[in-house]
Amino acid sequence: MDPKLAAAKAALKYVRSGYVIGVGSGSTALMFLSELAENIEGGGLTDVKLIATSTETEYEIVKLGLGELLRYPWQVDHVDVAIDGADEVDKDKNLVKGGGGALTREKIIDYWASEFIVIVDESKLVDKIPSKHPIPVEVVPYAWPLVKARLERDYGGSAELRYSSGKRGPVITDNGNYIIDYRPGSGIEPREGERVIKCIPGVVEVGLFNGLKVSRVIVGKQDGSVNEF
Ligand code: 5RP
Repeated sequence: MDPKLAAAKAALKYVRSGYVIGVGSGSTALMFLSELAENIEGGGLTDVKLIATSTETEYEIVKLGLGELLRYPWQVDHVDVAIDGADEVDKDKNLVKGGGGALTREKIIDYWASEFIVIVDESKLVDKIPSKHPIPVEVVPYAWPLVKARLERDYGGSAELRYSSGKRGPVITDNGNYIIDYRPGSGIEPREGERVIKCIPGVVEVGLFNGLKVSRVIVGKQDGSVNEF
């Protein structure tokens, strides 16, 4: 079995009838969404509401025929559980997210949720964050050169504007902003990194997620089993 699917299926046990469910972005979260759809249609899960963390997820919810369950932050007063993927996870559950550019809405919903469940395959587990992936930073377009300069001056390394495929122009997020992909020169402590990068004027959000906000990580394996921590 696809290890992402194994993690997605295992996340279903954290969902109950009556819940407001935050649905993450990326391939693993969309696998969870299609498992969820099956449970809503025939699996006895009733009276749930769905909050999407990206327009792509919103589109998938509608495509699966669940549009009438879709809600926006101004229509609910809480989120019971959010289920989302990640690009990197360390042993303290700190995350790098935003490979798909949805980090801001993801953080809004994931941090708001009473329970935040992360679903990944084993390849996402790393000793140190950031490891293979750069840290995505969503920035106001006007400020991007300044944010790039500040990151490179204060923490070394390289900060590059993310371009759309074919280099037709910068990637535009769901919020109308740009993304800078930042690889620090030396290590950056993820929780401190989240705090200090977010304080740079022009930064909207940073794709470092504090492990203290994560309730559980479900890791799917090749043989279809999962490990949780
Ligand atoms: C999107 C994200 C995704 O959760 C992350 O990129 C993981 O994606 P996938 O499940 O496709 O590996 O943060 O902004």
